[in-house]
Amino acid sequence: MTVVTLGAHILDVLARPVEGIPDGQGTVVVDEIRVTAAGAAAGTAVALARLGNEVISVGAIGDDDLGDLLVTIMARNGVDATGLVRRTADQTSTSILPIRPDGGRPSFHVPGANLTLTTGAVGPGLLAAARFVHLGGPDVTFGLNDPAFFEMLAAARRTGTVVTMDPLSAMPDLLAGAAAFLPHVDHFLPNEEQAAAMTGESDPEKAAAALLTQGPRTVIVTLGADGSLVATAGEVHRLPVPPVEVVDTTGCGDAYCAGFITGLAHGKDVLEAARWGTAAAATVAQGLGSDACLTGLDAVLALLK
Ligand SMILES: Nc1ncnc2c1ncn2[C@@H]1O[C@H](COP(=O)(O)OP(=O)(O)OP(=O)(O)O)[C@@H](O)[C@H]1O
Ligand SMILES: [Mg+2]
Repeated sequence: MTVVTLGAHILDVLARPVEGIPDGQGTVVVDEIRVTAAGAAAGTAVALARLGNEVISVGAIGDDDLGDLLVTIMARNGVDATGLVRRTADQTSTSILPIRPDGGRPSFHVPGANLTLTTGAVGPGLLAAARFVHLGGPDVTFGLNDPAFFEMLAAARRTGTVVTMDPLSAMPDLLAGAAAFLPHVDHFLPNEEQAAAMTGESDPEKAAAALLTQGPRTVIVTLGADGSLVATAGEVHRLPVPPVEVVDTTGCGDAYCAGFITGLAHGKDVLEAARWGTAAAATVAQGLGSDACLTGLDAVLALLK
C-alpha cells in the first residue's frame, strides 16, 4: 500500500448557493446538492486515489446508513475502506454545508464516531508497510494520543515510512493535543488559524518557525486564497494560488495534502510537491465539495503550466 490515511472520516452534505435559512417551512431551490467523503483522512484519501495513488484509510465511523454511504463513496473512488471500524454507540461524523454565493462555507457538524478512534483500530504492521502515513485530524482523533500509537509511528519511520499530518479543527484545546504528534511527523500542513492556535504566533512565518522546533522537517502553512508558506530549516518560500474561478473551497486543505504526498511519491522535492498540492487544491476550489473537478493527475499538473 502506498499511503495510509488515518483519522477523521466525515460525510459532507453540501448545497449551493445558500444565502440564508428560509423563514418558517420555506423551501429554496438551489443549483446543486452533493454528498462527499470528507474530513482530513477520508477527503485526503479520495483525492489521493483520484491522483493515482493506492490508499487504505483507517478510522472510526458509525454502523449506520451514513457510514454505509461513506464507505460506498470511498470504495467507488478506489480507496480501500477495510481499515474502518464501525461503532454502534456513535453516529458517523457528518457535516451539512450551505455554501454561500461568494464561496463562504459555514457548517453544521456532528463529531460522532471520529472521537472514538483508538490505537486498537490500526492493524499491526500496517503503518510500517506504507510509504506514507497521513494523520488527518489528530486533534479530533485524540484517542491516538497514546504511547502505543507513537511507538507504531516511530517503528514505521525507522523502516522509511514518511509521516504527514494535517489538523481538522479550529479549537485551541484540541489543537494543543495535536502537538504531541509533532515529534513523529516529517511534514506538517496546518492552516493559518491552526498554526497560530498551536504556537501563539499570528504571523505564519513565525508560527512555522516555532512548529519546526517541535519535530517536523517541513511546515507548510496554508493561507486560503493567499496560497501557502513552505518552511524548512533555513528556507521559507511563499506559493501563490493559480488564477481559477472559485465555487467552493471545502476540502482545499485535504486536496493540498493529497497533491503534496503525490508529489513526494513521484520523487519531487518538498517545494515542487507543495506546488502539486497548490494545483490539486485550486482544482477542487472550482466545484462543489471536497472532490470537485479532481479527475486525475495530468489535469491537475496542467494548472502549473
Ligand atoms: N480561493 C482559492 N483559490 C485558489 N486556491 C485556494 C483558494 N482557497 C484555498 N486555496 C488553496 O487551498 C489551500 C488550502 O486552503 P486553506 O488554507 O483554506 O485550507 P484549510 O482551511 O485547511 O481547508 P480545509 O477545510 O479543506 O482543511 C491553500 O493553501 C491554497 O493553495
Ligand atoms: Mg485543513
